[in-house]
Amino acid sequence: MDQTLHRFLEDLAKFGKTNDQQTAQRSERMLNITPDTGPFLSILIKSAKAKDILEIGTSNGYSTIWLADAARCTGGHVTTIEMNPWKVNQARLNFQTASVDEFITQIVIPAETYLPTCPSDSVDFIFLDSERSQYAGWLNQLLRLLRPGGLLVVDNAVSHEAELAEFTSVVRQTPGLDTSLVPIGNGELLIWKCI
Ligand SMILES: C[S@@+](CC[C@H](N)C(=O)[O-])C[C@H]1O[C@@H](n2cnc3c(N)ncnc32)[C@H](O)[C@@H]1O
Repeated sequence: MDQTLHRFLEDLAKFGKTNDQQTAQRSERMLNITPDTGPFLSILIKSAKAKDILEIGTSNGYSTIWLADAARCTGGHVTTIEMNPWKVNQARLNFQTASVDEFITQIVIPAETYLPTCPSDSVDFIFLDSERSQYAGWLNQLLRLLRPGGLLVVDNAVSHEAELAEFTSVVRQTPGLDTSLVPIGNGELLIWKCI
């Protein structure tokens, strides 16, 4: 990764941490992935040569910039969904500053409205980092969008294991999926859709 972009991401991570320590209001917290999760997602995308990348939960765009930098390497593109307009605007400015805006499309409607409009088998990689209570209800749509051989990565699988219990239970009962729980950052659940 380019050193300038690396420094910008370090500053953005520090901003998110400080902001979240000072803010009780959840809608005003950035809730970014941990700094070690970014390179992990990036390597997954680059090793899979994933091109069509979908993120649910942009916040101010910290994780999206990691995904976009990987998309630059694969010749891909990131579509990222966020329904909080205040965060959408912060993300837009961050994408411009990081010079990754050409690799990103921002969707500003709730994920549950957007997902049903997407074609089946159209996405190689999904990063799910949003409203955890909705994940179980979104699973069928997420698996419909994912191409065979595609990967769904779910954040907070260790830090919020109990909140994800219903989701992970449904995943484990769904045929045609391989799973692996990776203890990096807040815990990343990898769900691979079998070919
Ligand atoms: C954990 S934060 C995302 C953090 C971001 N991935 C990062 O690491 O920088 C979750 C985000 O999901 C958004 N969100 C919650 N419910 C949503 C929904 N139904 N549709 C779209 N976005 C939603 C919230 O506004 C919040 O900004």
